[in-house]
Amino acid sequence: MRSSHLLTLPALALATPFDLKSRQNNVNSSGITWGKCHDPLIPGNSSLQCGSLDVPLDYTNEDSGATLALEIVRAPTPKVPSKGSIFFNAGGPGASGIEDLVALASRIQFTTNYDYDIVNIVPRGTNSTLPFSCYQDTASSTYAGLTLAASAYDTAPANIWVQSQLFADNCAAMQTENGTLIGTAFTARDLMRVVDVLEEDGLLRYWAPSYGTLLGATVAAMFPDKIDKMVLDGVVNPTLYYRNNESETFTSIDGTFNGFCVGCAENPDKCPLAMNQTADEVKQGIFKMLEGLRTDPLAIPTPGGPLGGIVLDYSFVKNLIGSSLYYPSKWSGMASQLFAVQQRNLTLISEILSAGAAGGGDATGSNALQTAVAPDSNARDGIKCSDVLTHAANRSEFQSALDARHAAGYFADAADDLPTRCAQWKLPAKERYDGDFKVKTTKPILLINNEFDPATPLVSAKNVSETFENAVLVEQRGGYGHTIWAHVSPCTVQHIATYFANGTVPEKGAICDVTVPLLSGLTGWEEILGA
Ligand SMILES: *[C@@H]1O[C@H](CO)[C@@H](O)[C@H](O)[C@H]1NC(C)=O
Ligand SMILES: *[C@@H]1O[C@H](CO)[C@@H](O)[C@H](O)[C@H]1NC(C)=O
Ligand SMILES: *[C@@H]1O[C@H](CO)[C@@H](O)[C@H](O)[C@H]1NC(C)=O
Ligand SMILES: *[C@@H]1O[C@H](CO)[C@@H](O)[C@H](O)[C@H]1NC(C)=O
Ligand SMILES: *[C@@H]1O[C@H](CO)[C@@H](O)[C@H](O)[C@H]1NC(C)=O
Ligand SMILES: *[C@@H]1O[C@H](CO)[C@@H](O)[C@H](O)[C@H]1NC(C)=O
Ligand SMILES: *[C@@H]1O[C@H](CO)[C@@H](O)[C@H](O)[C@H]1NC(C)=O
Ligand SMILES: *[C@@H]1O[C@H](CO)[C@@H](O)[C@H](O)[C@H]1NC(C)=O
Ligand SMILES: *[C@@H]1O[C@H](CO)[C@@H](O)[C@H](O)[C@H]1NC(C)=O
Ligand SMILES: *[C@@H]1O[C@H](CO)[C@@H](O)[C@H](O)[C@H]1NC(C)=O
Repeated sequence: MRSSHLLTLPALALATPFDLKSRQNNVNSSGITWGKCHDPLIPGNSSLQCGSLDVPLDYTNEDSGATLALEIVRAPTPKVPSKGSIFFNAGGPGASGIEDLVALASRIQFTTNYDYDIVNIVPRGTNSTLPFSCYQDTASSTYAGLTLAASAYDTAPANIWVQSQLFADNCAAMQTENGTLIGTAFTARDLMRVVDVLEEDGLLRYWAPSYGTLLGATVAAMFPDKIDKMVLDGVVNPTLYYRNNESETFTSIDGTFNGFCVGCAENPDKCPLAMNQTADEVKQGIFKMLEGLRTDPLAIPTPGGPLGGIVLDYSFVKNLIGSSLYYPSKWSGMASQLFAVQQRNLTLISEILSAGAAGGGDATGSNALQTAVAPDSNARDGIKCSDVLTHAANRSEFQSALDARHAAGYFADAADDLPTRCAQWKLPAKERYDGDFKVKTTKPILLINNEFDPATPLVSAKNVSETFENAVLVEQRGGYGHTIWAHVSPCTVQHIATYFANGTVPEKGAICDVTVPLLSGLTGWEEILGA
């Protein structure tokens, strides 16, 4: 999913200093020259610093001498000396993380209570670091981005298969030069190059959500002796990721949807769909509406313009629900959207879509009406698909994998295009991690997962906690949505702060209860940041 996962970051009040060389910000201590950022998204007065480091363009052929100028952004601590760097990755794959760091910097400028530099390498495939796109113009890219749910109609899977084939072929034709150089294993090496030149203790401190957990697991498996601290939140099963096996991916998506229906029935003032119904009646009503859209889709003209417009059909609305399930704080907005669709009130739908009530997400109306194509617009596919170790010879061979994905639930055919594209990928990464994850890192890894995460289910986090020899999992019980940025308990944040400060992890089986009410519009961070 091409969306930011790091919305805000808590101030870390940290006690025990590392034994790190003291150094000042803004100087050249490290082979990286830090200076002002020129990215248009970063305000001129921002405290963010930008730098770059030359790394091998192709780690399997370092002798060629070809290099890549890896972009790096950091939010330096105002404290001198810094206690070192904590790296983060913004998820995706395909998020550059710049937006997230800007959001972070605007938050932490109000506090001096953090002791680390927060560092983000702009990963290969994204933004200016080997941007990955398969199309030259908006029209073809928009066509390729159309959402189709496999269950929309009988022949939809065949359609998705050939659309994905076309996409994979286009990427192969467009990305002949650098398309095999953006995989996660190379990004893992980039990360360690930066750690090496920072002249701290040569160890990685890392905190990441979502796809960032896959990058983290890969770095940890490749460099187990170099991990000081690692927090992985919203955990991907790395074994399945590399095999393009999505049988586990959506095992909590229906449970998350159920949470929405319960929250709706309990908060009728926040949920126009409620109408004195039970949670189950709300749910059946939404299913009925979706089924109705199969035969009676709605045409919504572009607000304020004579051209374009979107078709609200079964696939579109189902996908809209799937992406909104990531963020419970936006569920009230989703409820208004679904209510408008249920009423088939075009005026209301149009108003809501143009106001962008549900916020970001790939399937919202505002996104569908967008025109510009970013140079890295296909980074999600380029990174994930070049990583996968298994491909399918034909559609019938892939069908069982797709069936296993769909078996996870009603909403489990969200974004079928991604695994289907990967199954037909022509640009395998020069290096793909194909080892196992039964590794013992020097220090324990801290894993965190919501009980109901639509995209990275708790079962995947449990798998990783049992696979890495000394990892500990904190379950956010009653937590809904994707990662702790969606829904958080102060208890979890305390565990993270203690871990970064003292290196201690909680007991195995740790549970933190999330008490922020659903549909309240809150995430739980309001209270924590306010403190
Ligand atoms: C920093 O290092 C680079 C390359 O080593 C050098 O070109 C540059 O002049 C240095 N800048 C400062 C401020 O020392
Ligand atoms: C930067 O400038 C904007 C307005 O241009 C202001 O809102 C913001 O507070 C400033 N930030 C800092 C860190 O001074
Ligand atoms: C491939 O990457 C190298 C190194 O960044 C760059 O110089 C070159 O222009 C890229 N090629 C294409 C076709 O983008
Ligand atoms: C990098 O991202 C910024 C926004 O953060 C955007 O303005 C710029 O065009 C991007 N550059 C590339 C090469 O993608
Ligand atoms: C996908 O993974 C599941 C769980 O490990 C396994 O049962 C299944 O056989 C795998 N599917 C394929 C096609 O390998
Ligand atoms: C819900 O039920 C109450 C009591 O039966 C009734 O007064 C109210 O109008 C109903 N509300 C809606 C939205 O149907
Ligand atoms: C449709 O929505 C508009 C805008 O909210 C509202 O004014 C109108 O009364 C609604 N129409 C019906 C039939 O409910
Ligand atoms: C699909 O590929 C498999 C494996 O190569 C092969 O056994 C099978 O006959 C193919 N099926 C079709 C319909 O081409
Ligand atoms: C983790 O998941 C992989 C892939 O399904 C499986 O092979 C492995 O046995 C699981 N490990 C544990 C400890 O559950
Ligand atoms: C770290 O440990 C010290 C000494 O045991 C303790 O005083 C401090 O509160 C701990 N810090 C955190 C954030 O838990």
